[in-house]
Amino acid sequence: MSNPPTAAFVVVANRLPVDRVTLPGGRTAWRTSPGGLVSALKPVLQRNEGAWIGWHGAPAEELEPFVDDGLELVPVPLTHSEVEEYYEGFSNGTLWPLYHDVVAPPEFHREWWEAYVRVNRRFAQRAADVAERGGVVWVQDYQLQLVPAMLREMRPDLRIGFFLHIPFPPTELFQQMPWRRQILEGLLGADLVGFQHQGASQNFVRLVRQRVGHKTHRDTVYLPDGRLVTAGSFPISIDAESFEKLARDPATEQRADEIREELGAPKHVLLGIDRLDYTKGLRQRLRAFGELLAEGSIDLDDAVFVQVATPSRERVDQYKVLRDDIDRLVGRINGDVGRIGRVPITYLHSSYPKAEMAALYRAADIMVVTPLRDGMNLVAKEYVACRYDDQGALVLSEFAGAADELKQAYRVNPYDINGMKATLLQAMESPDREKSRRMRSMRKYVSEHDIDRWAKSFLDRLAGSETHHDKHPRP
Ligand code: F6P
Repeated sequence: MSNPPTAAFVVVANRLPVDRVTLPGGRTAWRTSPGGLVSALKPVLQRNEGAWIGWHGAPAEELEPFVDDGLELVPVPLTHSEVEEYYEGFSNGTLWPLYHDVVAPPEFHREWWEAYVRVNRRFAQRAADVAERGGVVWVQDYQLQLVPAMLREMRPDLRIGFFLHIPFPPTELFQQMPWRRQILEGLLGADLVGFQHQGASQNFVRLVRQRVGHKTHRDTVYLPDGRLVTAGSFPISIDAESFEKLARDPATEQRADEIREELGAPKHVLLGIDRLDYTKGLRQRLRAFGELLAEGSIDLDDAVFVQVATPSRERVDQYKVLRDDIDRLVGRINGDVGRIGRVPITYLHSSYPKAEMAALYRAADIMVVTPLRDGMNLVAKEYVACRYDDQGALVLSEFAGAADELKQAYRVNPYDINGMKATLLQAMESPDREKSRRMRSMRKYVSEHDIDRWAKSFLDRLAGSETHHDKHPRP
């Protein structure tokens, strides 16, 4: 690879914002990468000139740095076996379930861990090549937890931040990890370690004290070499203004009308939009809706459910099982309670451009976001940002990070199917005045706490944080 570009501000994430995909027929094309991390960070980097280092989504392919949509992108290659062991294996077969309350059992394999270490080192090396002297490097998410310490060793002149987009597990669960100490030490290479939630930040500091043995005080870790590491919570958000602008576009409004017409213009359109992931609570939510129809609490003429499930991690076993389960469940409900011309659940296993998502948000009377555990859930915030008319209702799991902020949502415990049924009915039956009161206050919150505010609060704290203490550490 030729010399990469250099930049004073560098984002390092497992994925680039675009993914290289092979189309049927063998042609390759670029498409927006899945997930909230990319949609949140892209506008941040577009506004702060810098470079984005990440994998381009295809195995065994070395690509030169390139510019896309005004962004300087630096691809990191992964071999076939690294995709299996680092990405599908350790990242998504070990860390993902462990960090999400073990809703699926995590697997621990030594070869996966070795690949994780090797690939983290490659990302760190790339960042060391790209970052200008004294620059800022912002490392993202669970796939790259070792990068901060590796990078610090290579480039002690840098300011290094780390942000975890997913939950950080309670100490009791984290202890299962055979490489727990190495992961904590990896994160401690950063000057600032950010989490979605205050509780996660406290867990981290407690674990550092217990497992690594460093002194800590409140949100600060005192390292024996004189360095300070700060932990903190920075709940992520969205580019609220751009979503509202898209929602107000007459073309979006027209598409939303078409969608409602095509669905048979029912009284209530319920909507779910998720990556097809077992943490998202799809089974529970569809069962709740199916039961409401089957027992006659809602009429098939009155309500339909649209579930968009974006394909994700399709070669990982648990995702294959989930896909089959959801196919079966949707088929069963539609077969049991549907009739000619009336399909209760419209299930779309596909990803859609932002404009179509905005039209779906506009078409939906009730947005159903019911993860079993979720770091934040940006879909909930996107829905709110699109409801400039203050109409619509958000049904939100109390186990999504977003529930801490969107307090006027209709809250559910997704494990409690009867409770979820009651809340769905409540949302459907609430008077318009009540729904608009709730939506107005959530919309105000999201527009004031947008992605720029999130990035600024993290980066200001990173720039301003003390990085060293005197020879005698405080308590
Ligand atoms: O925010 C969680 C996250 O895992 C991101 O790190 C990731 O880019 C996104 O979800 C989508 O997952 P994947 O990159 O595995 O497709």
